[in-house]
Amino acid sequence: MSDYVVKADLLGKTFPGAKRGDDLVVFENVNFRLREGEFVTCIGHSGCGKSTILNILAGLDKPSSGCVFVGGKLVDGPGLDRAVVFQNHSLLPWLSAEKNVSFAVRAKWPEWRDERVRAHANKYLELATLTTGLDRKPHQLSGGMRQRVGIARAFALETEVLLMDEPFGALDALTRGSIQDELIKTWSETKKTVFMITHDVDEAILLSDRIFLMTNGPQARIAEAVVVDIPRPRERGQIIHYPGYYDLRNHIIEFLVQRSQELSGSVRPVPLSEYRTVENNLVYPPDVNPIRDAAAPSPSRLKSA
Ligand SMILES: Nc1ncnc2c1ncn2[C@@H]1O[C@H](COP(=O)(O)OP(=O)(O)OP(=O)(O)O)[C@@H](O)[C@H]1O
Ligand SMILES: [Mg+2]
Repeated sequence: MSDYVVKADLLGKTFPGAKRGDDLVVFENVNFRLREGEFVTCIGHSGCGKSTILNILAGLDKPSSGCVFVGGKLVDGPGLDRAVVFQNHSLLPWLSAEKNVSFAVRAKWPEWRDERVRAHANKYLELATLTTGLDRKPHQLSGGMRQRVGIARAFALETEVLLMDEPFGALDALTRGSIQDELIKTWSETKKTVFMITHDVDEAILLSDRIFLMTNGPQARIAEAVVVDIPRPRERGQIIHYPGYYDLRNHIIEFLVQRSQELSGSVRPVPLSEYRTVENNLVYPPDVNPIRDAAAPSPSRLKSA
């Protein structure tokens, strides 16, 4: 089997407008690969299409062009090989916190006895630091608690691929920090392949092997894959002292403040026919390593990559 667990080729998404010519091309020519066990985050301005990409990987949305392979299989719907943490928790409103998790566990392992299902669900609820309020329904939980139930549910499925859409966005700084620590621990033990969306640059650096930077929409694309080769294990309190940490951080912030706009729509869309004939022509986001590279990549270098 190839090293690539997730492969997205030529993804494009267009939402039809009210009349001809009003169509919204959210993104096009999005190509990337995620290696087995890789932790990749995606950063970009609001509305550039991050959630849409994640939903396509999850099989919950269809691309207008292109396709996604997970574990070598074409994605044409949701599957038990992928777990998702949604931007807005998406819990079942009629089930308690615990039952939201155990319901998913039972769906994955229908042969398990009740006790085993409950123990498994509770293990992951505990991991997400949820030990009280387990019998409460989602509307009786705080926003942060609901989000943590969603995280516990996704982890409990023990899938090879984990897709997370701003999973910590609604959490207070303390809880966020402790769940980040748990996530690092669980990820390093299980080596899941993770695709996660975040708006938090420090969180992205702490967690990622690579950080995809998206240009502003419409017609957004992944312009760069920033390589984070800060050695693991990483600790929240220590990582800022790593030489080059601030170079890396500044590179990403500079992208968000300036280049995400400058590069927006700057690349000629390559016609599908050209891609299909020579697969090697697929334009992947160039890997850049601001820590190792003496000079930050110039826009001209990016264009030719
Ligand atoms: N069902 C839909 N119909 C029409 N347009 C849509 C639909 N869903 C999303 N969009 C548009 O597609 C674009 C991308 O949306 P998406 O939710 O993927 O953005 P995002 O990068 O996740 O933003 P945020 O950071 O705010 O979550 C937005 O302009 C949005 O308005
Ligand atoms: Mg989103």
